[in-house]
Amino acid sequence: MEFIILNISTSIRKVLVTGGTGFIGSHTVVELIAKNYIPIIVDNLDNSTIDVLDGIEAIAGVRPDFYQVDILDAAALEKVFKTNPEISAVIHFAAHKAVGESVEKPLKYYRNNVSGLINLLEVMHKMQVKHLVFSSSCTVYGQPEILPVTEQSPILPAMSPYGNTKQIGEEIIRDFTIANDFKSIALRYFNPVGAHHSGLIGELPLGVPNNLVPFITQTAAGLRNELSIFGKDYNTADGTCIRDYIHVSDVADAHIFAMERMYNSKEAAKFEFFNIGTGKGTSVLEAVKKFEEVSGLNLNYKFVERRSGDVEKVYADTSYANKTFGWKSKRNLDDMMLSAWKWQQTLLNIKQENG
Ligand code: UFG
Repeated sequence: MEFIILNISTSIRKVLVTGGTGFIGSHTVVELIAKNYIPIIVDNLDNSTIDVLDGIEAIAGVRPDFYQVDILDAAALEKVFKTNPEISAVIHFAAHKAVGESVEKPLKYYRNNVSGLINLLEVMHKMQVKHLVFSSSCTVYGQPEILPVTEQSPILPAMSPYGNTKQIGEEIIRDFTIANDFKSIALRYFNPVGAHHSGLIGELPLGVPNNLVPFITQTAAGLRNELSIFGKDYNTADGTCIRDYIHVSDVADAHIFAMERMYNSKEAAKFEFFNIGTGKGTSVLEAVKKFEEVSGLNLNYKFVERRSGDVEKVYADTSYANKTFGWKSKRNLDDMMLSAWKWQQTLLNIKQENG
């Protein structure tokens, strides 16, 4: 009897995390462990390193099982499920995410983000694993006509192949979910930034960062000469673009809520999607000023031409996520900038130690 109880509890607790050594993945693994889940990581280390496991272990006190597997390798993926028959849910992060690169190399994005997802669903179907949380993005809304963006806002034509893979991904999951004994939740992240408050894990941009916050912290650290602010003639109060920046640990928390909802909620529809933002729009210039304030540093920046493909402003209406989903962001822009800066200093220390 005791054995059976143990077995059931383990089965509810084992979660496969694809892309679990990545930016949002690693923070989610930490939160899963804190909530007594047992994460199993699958990652091909294409955009992360094995050292991330040290950071997770230092924070969580547990080193999660790790499989260096590419989700395009269906046989290897299936083997992971067979080795861990207690897996009862998957949180799927593994995907390419650079908007600009996706324009240059669309097939790379469709192959990994779409074919990889189909592989995963087929393996889950075969192995009878019936719960999925999917990393989606506010990019599915394009440049919305009405702000803030609710979950009912129209899905507009994607502005990049990357954005298209998120739209297609949601559609594939919706159709698969409806056709099968399956539950799924897509989380539409706004702009995840910051790092774990310990400074032990964070974002690892390879080469020159595309995103604002890593570029800010690298400039402050002296790794870049100056930050270029793309555009100062937008129709916003200070002329720079507005985004809904959200702390990565708040984003990570949302995945725990999604898991609990799929397992426990009687009202939940089979396929659902939620906005994961703070509901607060911040301009690029406000973000820069906030970084300067919390770090006590002056940032070297200049205004340059608009970046092609940028939407002017986007921020979330989070009331549906707050009420129905029960999740709410807890950390503010100070926390985001401070933790990002702390993480940048960790990276500098590692660099110095390695000569
Ligand atoms: N920005 C700069 N200078 C930089 C980098 C960015 O001024 O060096 C500006 C951008 O023009 C934009 C804002 O900072 O106005 C935020 O840019 P990011 O690149 O950090 O983020 P995006 O909003 O462009 O992209 C994010 C995610 C994508 C997702 C998209 C959806 O990175 O995955 O939101 O809108 F598709």
